[in-house]
Amino acid sequence: MTKWSPNSWRNKPILQVPAYPDPELLAEVEGRLATYPPLVFAGEARKLKKQLAAVANGEAFLLQGGDCAESFAEHGADNIRDFFRVFLQMAVVLTFAGAKPVVKVGRIAGQFAKPRSSDMETKDGVSLPSYRGDIINGIEFTETARTPDPNRQEMAYRQSAATLNLLRAFAQGGYANLENVHKWMVSSLADSPQAERYRVIADRITETMDFMRAIGITAETHPSLRETDFYTSHEALLLGYEEALTRVDSTSGDWYATSGHMLWIGDRTRQPDHAHVEYCRGVKNPIGLKCGPSLDPDTLLSLIDILNPQNEPGRLTLIARFGAEKVGDYLPKLIRAVKREGRSVVWSCDPMHGNTVSLNGFKTRPFDLILAEVRRFFEVHAAEGTYAGGIHIEMTGKNVTECTGGARAISGEDLQNRYHTHCDPRLNADQALELAFLVAELIKETSAGKPQPMVAAAAG
Ligand code: PEP
Ligand code: CO
Repeated sequence: MTKWSPNSWRNKPILQVPAYPDPELLAEVEGRLATYPPLVFAGEARKLKKQLAAVANGEAFLLQGGDCAESFAEHGADNIRDFFRVFLQMAVVLTFAGAKPVVKVGRIAGQFAKPRSSDMETKDGVSLPSYRGDIINGIEFTETARTPDPNRQEMAYRQSAATLNLLRAFAQGGYANLENVHKWMVSSLADSPQAERYRVIADRITETMDFMRAIGITAETHPSLRETDFYTSHEALLLGYEEALTRVDSTSGDWYATSGHMLWIGDRTRQPDHAHVEYCRGVKNPIGLKCGPSLDPDTLLSLIDILNPQNEPGRLTLIARFGAEKVGDYLPKLIRAVKREGRSVVWSCDPMHGNTVSLNGFKTRPFDLILAEVRRFFEVHAAEGTYAGGIHIEMTGKNVTECTGGARAISGEDLQNRYHTHCDPRLNADQALELAFLVAELIKETSAGKPQPMVAAAAG
């Protein structure tokens, strides 16, 4: 393999590159970004990797989620707060169900660049470059907005810094206090049509909290009840931006991406000999790899060789995104190959990207299909004797109408009411929490029917 450097990806074939009309301005902006402070620190990425290693070993669960695409327009404290609130509630439900730590990773503070299925979009006979995320161009259908503008990279960097600053304050400054999260959960459930169904687990959480308080375990006495570890992640798609934020860690001498704690490679850009894989192989952060129907087991194994040659637990998260109908056919082959070769990975389920349909002129996702894919994912792992380690979802804390179904039964007609996403349809706050309860049930079912270690060893 050739020598890696932060810019060695530039010698490789690459897909999904924006056509910047002014390459000099692009180089100037990237040069400036390279002098700016890192957004995250190597030590934090290492800590996340350690927590993901626990997931790979079946001792923790990964919750990863957030916007499909963050936008400049929606950059407000309320959005960040509402997302964080729902995310923490989901984490508490999942922690309780699995009796294991939940590793919390947002698709946030850097999730701006989007891969597109076509370079151009045509409306009423006019063709313009497709929208590629606010870090590249604007969503409005005008020539000015759609022309890739390098200055947007600086805006995305600054927005990421501000978002991260607030998230750090929330996570460490007392807002994430378990008592708060519990209160939010109780009030979210109070007006949920499915309250009865979740009552059992919610009541048990309440009782546990009461018990802990009674014996003096409170947020005042125990920092772990008022603080939480929260990490950021995004798709490493815009490699010039990533390169500019790649830094040597002075402690270890290793290279780290400092644009976010965890980066992932999208389903469209995971060719083993291409630029995106080249960039990601050289940074020491935890890496995600989207696995869709076009990925065969041999290619997956060669990608694992490239991305995790030392077989380091926590380095690589495989994010399965096949669609409810396909996951049962495609996932087992990949799991068997990985298991046969003894590779340590985290298996996570993205039930969003394989379940997108068109309805009344909107891109949407039926909640039932999302749930069906997660359920199938758990069943396949149970059958293969492997660990269903996490979920990866697109969600918001707002009450949008982008995915159909759920307890409040969002209909095709409702989609037009609050369809705000800049890219793919997200679960709204109710749907996200409902999903967490359903995943909690699945975790409980599978851990109840878990094969004994002896049986698992004999099978594996
Ligand atoms: C995404 O996560 O928003 C995305 C584009 O996913 P995928 O690469 O799996 O299609
Ligand atoms: Co998406």
